[in-house]
Amino acid sequence: MKPVIEVQKLVKVYGKRSTAFTALKNIDLTINEGESVAIVGKSGSGKSTLMHLIALLDRPTEGTIKIDGVDSTKLSSRKLNHLRNHSFGFVFQQFFMNPQDTVLENVVLPLKIAGENRRTRRRLAEKALRTVGLEERIKFKANDLSGGQKQRVCIARAIVNNPKILFADEPTGNLDSATGDKVIELLFGLNKKQGVTLIIVTHDEDLARLCDRQIRISDGKIVEDTGAKKTEKTKKKTKVTKKKATKSTTKKGAKA
Ligand SMILES: Nc1ncnc2c1ncn2[C@@H]1O[C@H](COP(=O)(O)OP(=O)(O)O)[C@@H](O)[C@H]1O
Ligand SMILES: [Mg+2]
Repeated sequence: MKPVIEVQKLVKVYGKRSTAFTALKNIDLTINEGESVAIVGKSGSGKSTLMHLIALLDRPTEGTIKIDGVDSTKLSSRKLNHLRNHSFGFVFQQFFMNPQDTVLENVVLPLKIAGENRRTRRRLAEKALRTVGLEERIKFKANDLSGGQKQRVCIARAIVNNPKILFADEPTGNLDSATGDKVIELLFGLNKKQGVTLIIVTHDEDLARLCDRQIRISDGKIVEDTGAKKTEKTKKKTKVTKKKATKSTTKKGAKA
């Protein structure tokens, strides 16, 4: 089992001095290749903050985040952008799209940023749209689609660069349950069939249960981690106690 994300002693403080707020408090976390992981917890617990940090959309106040063994906190912004652009896909609750642009224009955006040529962009966009079942909508204006279709366009855009890791923050938050189910099916299909590592932030416990592993955040700390599936067939829950574990790191690491 190969770790794709290794987080150590992660701290995020928003604001300064009297307004300083510590949103993440010393998070340690390893995510392995091909896992599906749910990050759950109440609103304001720090789920999105954690996802933004491990997705390299924001910089931590303290701690390290390794992606495929590379310490991202030591990378320049340019290298960070490159890594994000080539290895990650993003699906958010609000379908961030350019509503006046076509489906095609929205989907090719990451490829444009990556500097792919027009023909490659078109080919990869068609493939991604086939995956989400929207190939016949390629010329439609994004605004003329239903909510579910918009989210599928977002998923097409998220997978168009063939990412290793897919980050989804409340991907079904704005969808009715039937449409949400389709989106979920799509995300888990990518995880199961193509081995994409799936990291989903959600407060939907049903969606969380579909993941191999559930990580619960409360008040900026991990309070529960069911652990990686492949090493733990029984899937028994491991309560994370207030650990100041330096001695047992290897043991814990092997289990996690
Ligand atoms: N940019 C910011 N500036 C200040 N505080 C923030 C910022 N973003 C989030 N927070 C605070 O950090 C805490 C965690 O937020 P967030 O990670 O968005 O929680 P969740 O996604 O679990 O709802 C909340 O108390 C929130 O108000
Ligand atoms: Mg959030």
